[in-house]
Amino acid sequence: MTAPLVTRVSRADRAAVADAAHVLAAGGLVAFPTETVYGLGADATHGQAIARLYEVKGRPRFNPLIAHVHHLTAAEALAQFNADATRLAEAFWPGPLTLVLPKAPASPVADLATAGLDTIAVRVPAHEVAQRILVAFGKPVVAPSGNRIDLIVNAGATPVGVESTIVACIGEPVLLRPGGLPRGLIERALGRPLGDRNAGDATSSKGDRPLAPGMLGSHYAPRTPLRLNARRAEPGEALLAFGPIEARAAAHAKIVLNLSAGEDLVEAAANLFAHLRALDAAGARAIAVMPVPQEGLGEAVNDRLARAAAPRQAEV
Ligand code: TXA
Ligand code: MG
Repeated sequence: MTAPLVTRVSRADRAAVADAAHVLAAGGLVAFPTETVYGLGADATHGQAIARLYEVKGRPRFNPLIAHVHHLTAAEALAQFNADATRLAEAFWPGPLTLVLPKAPASPVADLATAGLDTIAVRVPAHEVAQRILVAFGKPVVAPSGNRIDLIVNAGATPVGVESTIVACIGEPVLLRPGGLPRGLIERALGRPLGDRNAGDATSSKGDRPLAPGMLGSHYAPRTPLRLNARRAEPGEALLAFGPIEARAAAHAKIVLNLSAGEDLVEAAANLFAHLRALDAAGARAIAVMPVPQEGLGEAVNDRLARAAAPRQAEV
C-alpha cells in the first residue's frame, strides 16, 4: 500500500474501526490507542507491511515487536503458554502486561516481526478501541509506539500512559521491562519473585527449570557462518543474493535465495529472516551474502547481517 499524502485522522467510532481493519488488511499502518500508549499497528502476518512499519519508524535496527490480539485464545495460536504464563494471562489480560514466550510451531506471525527469534512477545490490550480493531481485523497486529501513518484512530489520552510490563515465561519468569503493571501484582499472582534480566537470576536455578541460555538472546544468529559482501558463492556455500544474479555468482552455490531480485529493500527486509533460516538449514559450509546498499531499510538489514555474522556470544 502506498503512503497517502495526508494522514487521515478519525474519531474512534464504528466506521473508523472498520476503516482501520481495511487499512491493516491492505498492508497499511494504523495508529490506535491502547490503555498504555498509542501503537503504530501493522498486520503481524504481513512481512512487507512490517518492513514498511520499520521504515516509517526510521529505526536503523529491526527490534522484535509485540503481537497484539483480542483474547488469550488468539494468543495461544501464536505462542506456547506454560503454567506461569497461563496464570499471568488469566490474571492480567486484557491489560498492560506483555508475555515473551516460545513461538508456537505453526505461528502465522512473520519472521520480521520477531526479528527472527524463536520467542514472541504477545499482549491483549484492554482499551476498547484496540479491542474492537483487533476483533474486526481478526488477525494479530504488531504495534510499537509511533506517529507517521496512514490512519490514526483518535480516542484521546490513554489511561495508563506508560508501556506494558514485559515478562518472559520461558523457564522461570523474568522481568524484561518494567511498565504499567506493577511488579508486586505480578509476583503476588505467581506466588514467588520474578527474576531480573540483568541480575544473573535468569540463569541461576531459583526454580527447577533454569532459563535456557540463548532463549532470551537479543538477536537472531544462524549456526552456519556468514560471509558478508560476497560477489559469488564458493563451492559448498549457500548464496543469499540481492538484486540480479550473474550466472558466475551462483555457479557453485549449494542453494540460492534472493532477498529481492528487483533490489527492493522493503521486500529484502521482509524476506531476511525467513531466507537466513532456510539457508541455515541447508547444511552449507557458509552463507555467502551479496552486498546490500546502506540506504533506507538497507541499514537495518546490514545491521542484522553484521550481528548474525559476528561470533556467537553466550547471552541471556
Ligand atoms: O504498551 C506497550 O507495550 C506498547 C503498546 C503499543 O502495546 N508497545 C510497545 O512496543 O511498547 P515497543 O515495540 O515499543 O516495545 C516492545 C519491546 C521492545 O523492547 C522489544 O525488544 C521487546 O518488547 N520484545 C519484543 N519481542 C521480544 C522477544 N521475543 N524477546 C524479548 N523482548 C522482546
Ligand atoms: Mg516503545
